[in-house]
Amino acid sequence: MDNTNIINEIRSKVDIVDIISSYLPLTQRGKNYFGVCPFHDDTNPSMSVSREKQIYRCFSCGASGNVFQFIIDYEHVSFREALCILAQKTGIAINGIRLVKKKSKYDKFYEIYELAHKYYQNNMSSSYAKKAKEYLNNRNIDEEMIKKYKIGLSLDKNNHLTQLLISKGYDLNTLNAIGLTNYDKDVYTNRIMFPLYDLNGRVVAFSGRRYDGIKENKYVNTKGTEIFQKGETLYNYHLAREFVRSKNQVIVMEGFMAVIRTKEAGIENVVGLMGTAMTKEQANLIKRLSEHVILCLDGDEPGRKACLDNGNELEKLGCQVSIVELDNGLDPDDYILKYGSESFQNLINNSITLSDYRIKRLKKNINLNSDLEKTEYIHSVLVETSKIEDEIHREFILKKLAKEFEIGYNTLEKRLLSLMKENNQEEKKKVENIPLKPEIPTIKKDKYYLATYALLYYMLVDKKCLNYYEEGKIHFPKEEERFLASEISYYYQKYGMITPADFYTYLNDKEELLKVLDRVLELDFDQEVTEKELLDNIKVLQEYQIQQEIKKQEKKLKEETDIMKQAEIALKIKELNMRLKESL
Ligand code: CTP
Ligand code: MN
Repeated sequence: MDNTNIINEIRSKVDIVDIISSYLPLTQRGKNYFGVCPFHDDTNPSMSVSREKQIYRCFSCGASGNVFQFIIDYEHVSFREALCILAQKTGIAINGIRLVKKKSKYDKFYEIYELAHKYYQNNMSSSYAKKAKEYLNNRNIDEEMIKKYKIGLSLDKNNHLTQLLISKGYDLNTLNAIGLTNYDKDVYTNRIMFPLYDLNGRVVAFSGRRYDGIKENKYVNTKGTEIFQKGETLYNYHLAREFVRSKNQVIVMEGFMAVIRTKEAGIENVVGLMGTAMTKEQANLIKRLSEHVILCLDGDEPGRKACLDNGNELEKLGCQVSIVELDNGLDPDDYILKYGSESFQNLINNSITLSDYRIKRLKKNINLNSDLEKTEYIHSVLVETSKIEDEIHREFILKKLAKEFEIGYNTLEKRLLSLMKENNQEEKKKVENIPLKPEIPTIKKDKYYLATYALLYYMLVDKKCLNYYEEGKIHFPKEEERFLASEISYYYQKYGMITPADFYTYLNDKEELLKVLDRVLELDFDQEVTEKELLDNIKVLQEYQIQQEIKKQEKKLKEETDIMKQAEIALKIKELNMRLKESL
C-alpha cells in the first residue's frame, strides 16, 4: 500500500487546532485561531492556525506548514517520529509501513558514533575497567547506573579506537572531523566516557572524565563538529521532554552528573547546561520546553552569579524563573548523596522567585554598620520590588524591610510608588520607540499575481478549476507557478483527491515549490468559488499572456531592420491588441 494514503489518513484524523493547542494556547478570532509563535522570539500572537485548511502560518517569521511540520519543528523530531506521535494519537497502526528515510549527509557520522559508543561500553565490562568501576562505585554509581546511562571507558592502549574504526573502513579525515581522533591518535585515553546526545537522542559527542584523582582537565569534551555544538545542547533534553510537559516545569542544572543523580532521585524533568554559562540557543530550547524554569546550579559563587545572569536571560524571553540555592560547596549530586532525595525534592518545591533571589543576593554584600550602605541596599531592594507584579508580594517585602531596618512603612511605600511610576514611563517610551518593522521586499501583489495565486489555490480545493487547468485553459505566467500547477495535477491524478495540508507533506523537500505553495496559502482565499470567479481569473491571466506577447513583439519590431518583416510584426501586434480588447 502506498504510504501516502496512510500518512494522509493520519493527518486527516487529527485536527491541527487541537494538536497545536496542546502545545500552546490558541484563541479564536473569526474563522482562524491565533497564538504566540514558538519558532521565534515573540510575545504577540502572530501565528494563525486554520481549521478549514489544516495549516498554520506565522505572519512574523514566516514559519508555516501542516500538522506534521509543526511537530517536526516543535519537538525537533524527524518526519517519521512526527508520524508516530500522531499515529499514537489517532490509533492508526503504522507498523507495516516503510517510510523512505531521507539520507542525511551526517548518517555516517552517527554511525561512527554508535560504533565508538559500543566500543567504550564494551571496555567498561572488560577486565580493564577495574579501577574505573572502583572510582564510579565510590561515587555511588553502581553497575546498574553504568548500564542505564551507558557509561563507557576509553583505554590507554595504542589508539585502539582509531585502529578499530579504520579497520571498519572509515577514513581518518572523517574521524578527525568528528572529533574522535587527532591525526592518527585516539582523542580519549583513560577516561570514563559519558555519551552526549543531540536533541533527537543520537550520540554525537562524549565527555570524558579522568578518574585518577587529578583535578586538572577533569573533563574533556568532544570539539565542536557538524553534528555537535556544546552551546546548542542540553543534557537529557530528549528524555526530559515528556516529563517537562506533564509537569509544566523544567529544572536546569550545570552538569550531567547532577542530572544523572537527580534522575536517580526520581526527578525526571531536568536538563544540564554542561557548565554555568547558558547560550542564547540553550535559553530558547529551555523556553520551548517550558516557561516555568527552576535554576538549580552549583552552590558556589559562579553558580550563584549564573543564577542571576541566566535567570535574567530567561526572564527576558518570557519565562517565569525560580531559583534553588544549594549549600556552599555542594552541587545537586553532592546534595542528594548527603541529604537524600526527599530533602532535595523539598528544596525544589520551595524554590524562590528570581526577584526574591535578587533581593537575597543584594543583602549578602552590605555592611550593616554603614547607614550609607544600608540606604543603598534598601533603595536597590525597592527598585527590584517595583518590578514585581503581585501587589501582595510587594507588600510582604515592604513590611519585612520596614521591620528589619526600622523605617516607616509609608516612607518605603512612597519611594516604591515613585519607582513604579518611573518604570511605567520608561515602559511607555520603549513602546513608543519600537522601530517600525522594515518592509520586507515583497512581490508586487497586482491583479495578475492575485489571479495566479487564486487559481493555484482553487486547483487544490476545487475540481472544476483543476479541470480547466487540465484542459489547457490556464496558463501561469512564471515557471515556478507552472511547476506547482503540474505537481498539483500529478498528485490529484495519483491519489484521487488533494488538500492543501496533505500537499504540504508531499512537497516535503522541494523547497522552491514549498515557497510558492506558501504564497498560495498566505492569501487566505475562501474555500468556495463560483464558476464566474474562476473564469474571471482565467481571463486575467489570458490578458497577461497577450500583453507579454505584445511586449515581446514590440521589442522585436525595434530591432528589426527589414521593412517587410517590420510590417509583418506590426500586423501581429495589431492582431494581439484586438484580441486584448475582445478579452476585456
Ligand atoms: N565541564 C566541562 N569541562 C570542564 C568542567 C566542567 O565541560 N573542565 C562541564 C561538564 O559538562 C560538567 C559541567 O560542566 O558536567 C559541570 O561541571 P562541574 O560542576 O565541575 O562537574 P560535576 O558535574 O560536578 O562533575 P564531578 O562531580 O565529576 O566533578
Ligand atoms: Mn560534582
